[in-house]
Amino acid sequence: MVAGCRRCALAQTRTQVVFGSGSPDAELMFVGEAPGFHEDKQGVPFVGAAGQLLSKLLAGIGLAREDVYVANVLKCRPPGNRDPLPEEIQACEGHLFRQIELIQPKLVATLGNFATKLLSGKPNGITQVHGRSQQVVLGGNAVTLYPIFHPAAALYTPRMLEVLQEDFGRIPELLGRAVEPPPPPVPLHVAEPALEQPVQLGLF
Ligand code: URA
Repeated sequence: MVAGCRRCALAQTRTQVVFGSGSPDAELMFVGEAPGFHEDKQGVPFVGAAGQLLSKLLAGIGLAREDVYVANVLKCRPPGNRDPLPEEIQACEGHLFRQIELIQPKLVATLGNFATKLLSGKPNGITQVHGRSQQVVLGGNAVTLYPIFHPAAALYTPRMLEVLQEDFGRIPELLGRAVEPPPPPVPLHVAEPALEQPVQLGLF
């Protein structure tokens, strides 16, 4: 049972194992890094600030948390939210591979460096590979792997939010779904009546 897992030392400091949440039939699965403070308390992944941003980004492409499956590389919180250690990742990866085998997603979006490196099997970092899909075999199935920045990276960096929105914007296409038509272009000329203030069109 994963709930009683004692494969690494995180078993001594966790409140509980945070396995995953969402639809068992999901075509789209997200893999983050590790539970944080709130996830450790509630037993559900991505319920803190980064999780709220994940929900907003999903809403932006017409999806809800219930439509997808969300998990992490580590199922237990590292003390103080420090980075996962190589031996913890190694001890825990069997749980993630089994999860992928059970869910059988079509598209796996890796959030940040740890999930991306583990599931791609390559050392290339997220800055280099985000937004580029690749074909891999995971849990015995052909899967499209899609690396994206971790939403936590955007909490204090507005530019990162734009990159995340752009990368999320490709998800419907990767799932083979109809893509929403883009919004109409901003008009270049403002019609009468003339405005007293100069109009900022944001062209430059
Ligand atoms: N960050 C993660 O990577 N996973 C969570 O569940 C929460 C925050």
